[in-house]
Amino acid sequence: MGQQDAAAIRAELSAGLLAPHAFTAPKYLYDVLGSKLFEAICELPEYYPTRTEASIFDVHLSDIAESVGRGATLIDLGAGNCAKAARLFLALQPAQYVPIDISVDFMHEAVARLQQQFPQIEMTAIGMDFSSALDLPDVVHRKKRLFFYPGSSIGNFTPHEALDFLKRLRKACQLNGDADGGILIGIDLVKDKALLDAAYDDALGVTASFNLNLLQHLNRVLNADFDVRNWRHRGFFNVESSRIEMHLEARSDVTVRWEGGERRFERGERIHTENSYKYTPEKFVDLLEQAGFGESRTWTDPRGWFMVCHALAI
Ligand code: AVJ
Repeated sequence: MGQQDAAAIRAELSAGLLAPHAFTAPKYLYDVLGSKLFEAICELPEYYPTRTEASIFDVHLSDIAESVGRGATLIDLGAGNCAKAARLFLALQPAQYVPIDISVDFMHEAVARLQQQFPQIEMTAIGMDFSSALDLPDVVHRKKRLFFYPGSSIGNFTPHEALDFLKRLRKACQLNGDADGGILIGIDLVKDKALLDAAYDDALGVTASFNLNLLQHLNRVLNADFDVRNWRHRGFFNVESSRIEMHLEARSDVTVRWEGGERRFERGERIHTENSYKYTPEKFVDLLEQAGFGESRTWTDPRGWFMVCHALAI
């Protein structure tokens, strides 16, 4: 279900590396080490999103809970270790908790622990890549679905893709022909370029390691011969496109070979590895409305760096 097999993954990666402007999908940043490096990123002084979002949930939890109401079917998109959702359980009192993630193994332990702590909440973990399609199995209750999508992960989509994705979520919020449920989402906001640049190119080089680790992942998955030392991290805010771009840049001319292809990269040539779009509150609420959500309520931190938004399917 949405899981690509090894051959399809290799074909997708190979096609991206051979494109005029080489690129890879951001999901390939998250092998075992990549996931740990991302956890480390969240601890960096420069990387404000995780901390800022957590503070918004801390300060406004009772307001958010009041807006959402009890007894929801809480569907956690990209649940990982389930920690962000677990912090909402007492306030939201969901009837069912449905964590969804590509790496199921990582999730299962966390869910088992949570199930012991919260025996009254029905829990069903699902392993799937929800980015391309959202086929929820019948075990997922239809009543009062609340799609929880924190961390500004929606920033990995282009605004156009984000709209399609939100429309799919909206379609899944349907009970006996009527709109039911909603979305609780975290959005990183447009801010000063220097702050954004630093958050994606930190002094310790953890984000650089996170990005470069992709090459080691490619070496394993594609049987490629990338030499990490021949590449450098680039991470910066593109003001015109309102997005962070991450690239890997060749330090010298190099030919890379892998199962199913090879390519010569000239010095300075780049592989585009991630986009992370930043929104203004107005732009994002507009996107929600275009997708069929309404009655949006938003909460931000005092500096206006990040926003949490609850909107109803209408
Ligand atoms: C997980 C997509 C929200 O864009 O901030 C962090 C990933 N990349 N540092 C983000 C990321 C580099 C992160 N998201």
